[in-house]
Amino acid sequence: MFVSENLTVNEENHLCIGGLDTVKLAKEYGTPLYVLDEDLFRKNCQTYKTAIEKYYNGNGLVLYANKALCTLHTCKVAMEEGLGADVVSGGELYTAIKAGFPTDKIYFHGNNKTDEELFMAVSSGVGHIIVDNEYELVRLNDIAKEKGVVQNIMFRIKPGVDAHTHSFIQTGQIDSKFGVALENGEAFEIYEKAHKLSNVNPDGIHCHIGSQIFDVEPFMKAAEIMMNFAGDLKDKLGLMIKKLNLGGGYGIMYTENDDPVPYDEYIKHVADVVKDTAKARGIEIPQILMEPGRSISAPAGITLYTIGGVKDIKNVRKYVSVDGGMGDNPRYILYESEYSGVIANKAGDERTDKVTVAGKCCESGDLLMRDAMLQPSEPGDILAVFATGAYNYSMASNYNRIPRPAMIAVSNGEAKVIVKRETYEDIIKNDVF
Ligand code: LLP
Repeated sequence: MFVSENLTVNEENHLCIGGLDTVKLAKEYGTPLYVLDEDLFRKNCQTYKTAIEKYYNGNGLVLYANKALCTLHTCKVAMEEGLGADVVSGGELYTAIKAGFPTDKIYFHGNNKTDEELFMAVSSGVGHIIVDNEYELVRLNDIAKEKGVVQNIMFRIKPGVDAHTHSFIQTGQIDSKFGVALENGEAFEIYEKAHKLSNVNPDGIHCHIGSQIFDVEPFMKAAEIMMNFAGDLKDKLGLMIKKLNLGGGYGIMYTENDDPVPYDEYIKHVADVVKDTAKARGIEIPQILMEPGRSISAPAGITLYTIGGVKDIKNVRKYVSVDGGMGDNPRYILYESEYSGVIANKAGDERTDKVTVAGKCCESGDLLMRDAMLQPSEPGDILAVFATGAYNYSMASNYNRIPRPAMIAVSNGEAKVIVKRETYEDIIKNDVF
């Protein structure tokens, strides 16, 4: 009935997450409230790790993609689960370092890293920098030279694979701002150049074909193309590729219409393609890296809101307004993303009311759900929106000067604040007059 296994209904007909009553959580911590089921987050980390053990002799590393949800606490949890970290900005890198993440397991991304970010990454000893373009390569080599180190790198490659997802989150095709393309020779040329530079060590290749993808085939196709490229690098440049990073992008269930592939299926199929292509091309089997973000954190998160006004415009639409919106979840306004949820204090009842859930921002497109089925709602009810653990808090804003919600983590039947609720003081703290 619900999109995630950790959501249940108790004898009071209230929604529970990780066994805790969400109505009580809303009362204790206030709304809007992000709630993260830490135990499920951990379990999702383990699913990927176990799959690599099972299908690839453990010769891999799962990097948690922090862009999905990055806090000190989530960094610490990912680290405790033995994952590496994918970071994409100085801010994410800073958070990971502050959380105590071993820097050799950090992979630093970004299509336009600043000198300051490159300097910070090299100085802190990040394991790999995923270089986007030639301009960055040259600057990075200079910075590494200045620091007297040889920086491990890989380039982000556009393998030319078409992933069936929203065009804004599709990245593997040539017309994308990310990385260098295979089909026009750009990728080969940049490896040739890097191979000759003294302070970078290009020992890996990287691609990321998109996000919220439900098919295994595009990943298999990308793996085959990338492995053949590794074969070309060996044949033509004598360059041995030791790491194959296939990015993230595994789709999750937001509503009952989504039909995700079990996460370990991706690795199962991709592992065979990598091994077979390595054999065919006479190259070593590389270490596989993967960068799941959404599939680890999204299903573990829900957001709780308090319902305010209910506006039933006869023969038009029924709007249910909540005390949050695009400030804490901009995914509808950006991608028209669909979400499902329940009235938490009537969770076991049938969802018989077709409603559109509106946020409180001064913006018509500020919706959280459009024409979704919910239990009949009244002012004061608690709305729980499911699968908000990724790309909600991390993309949140203070539009209309609305403070960002708190986040709590629930684990072993206990809740604790991991991100404090912003205050009006926080809102003006950088203003100067
Ligand atoms: N690795 C790289 C290089 C990426 O660019 C991304 C996502 C990931 C890993 C993680 O992908 P995931 O497993 O989370 O799908 N804001 C959008 C998603 C943007 C994804 C950007 N890159 C959304 O809300 O759907």
